[in-house]
Amino acid sequence: MPAKVVEHAPAKVNLALHVTGRRDDGYHLLDTLVVFTEVGDTVSVAAAEQDSFTIQGPFAGLLDDEADNLVLRARDLLRSKHGDLPPVAISLEKNLPVASGIGGGSSDAAATLRALMRLWGIELSADTLAAAALRLGADLPMCLYARTLVARGIGEEIEPVEGIPPLHMVLANPGVAVPTPAIFRALASRENPPLPTLPGPQALSAWLTDTRNDLEVPAQTLAPEIGEVLSALTANGAALARMSGSGATCFGLFASRDEAKVAASAIAVLHPSWYVTATRTIERARADAT
Ligand code: C5P
Repeated sequence: MPAKVVEHAPAKVNLALHVTGRRDDGYHLLDTLVVFTEVGDTVSVAAAEQDSFTIQGPFAGLLDDEADNLVLRARDLLRSKHGDLPPVAISLEKNLPVASGIGGGSSDAAATLRALMRLWGIELSADTLAAAALRLGADLPMCLYARTLVARGIGEEIEPVEGIPPLHMVLANPGVAVPTPAIFRALASRENPPLPTLPGPQALSAWLTDTRNDLEVPAQTLAPEIGEVLSALTANGAALARMSGSGATCFGLFASRDEAKVAASAIAVLHPSWYVTATRTIERARADAT
């Protein structure tokens, strides 16, 4: 059994997100193509004499007072399913902006579940774990898989996708918090068409222009800064600029790593208060055990 496990908690980016309906309990039905990126948070777990939880990194300050941090709820979820599990020291490096549409908290919780299962030698099928984790948030199942996928239902129906090429992108966030429930409430239409059939690698850009993020318009009415971010990405050469999740983080797609880096630097100079980073998509999340 390893003494320490480190799991990458990659940013989740909704390349396209259609809202296709609403359940009786108020949750919305989605059809979304999701990718994960090199940039992300990191969760480390290690055997210890008593439980502890520390947060470092550029966005740590925003989480300090959050007693019900999703990381701890993930730890407690495993304990509730498996009884007497030993104490653990958990450390979170918070590199991603908080509550920003790129899955930060959900990806951290998913990475915690993956890390603790390895540390404690727990074996659960991906489907069982995803079903249990759904109660921590609708994005948990997709973040547990942490690979290119389509998610439907409220996020619990996962279909891994092959053949989407690696994508270079800039992530940019204007530093405004946009509350997810308010954005879903502000939707003009909840009955939009599902995503078109997924394309082969060559036809991805045409497919993307036929799709949307249905949450982008309501999010912009609540946070007009999102429009500025999309304009900045386009003005700096993005082939496509779109919001991820319920925002406010937006992504711009670029032809190469260099083009993405040049655009990210230019946007960061013009908007020093924004979170801006160049990154690319990954095949699946990394993990290291020692
Ligand atoms: O599950 P999660 O905590 O991420 O959801 C936050 C809120 O966002 C929910 O309480 C709900 O109001 C809204 N939501 C939704 N439909 C979804 C996901 C979230 O209406 N598929």
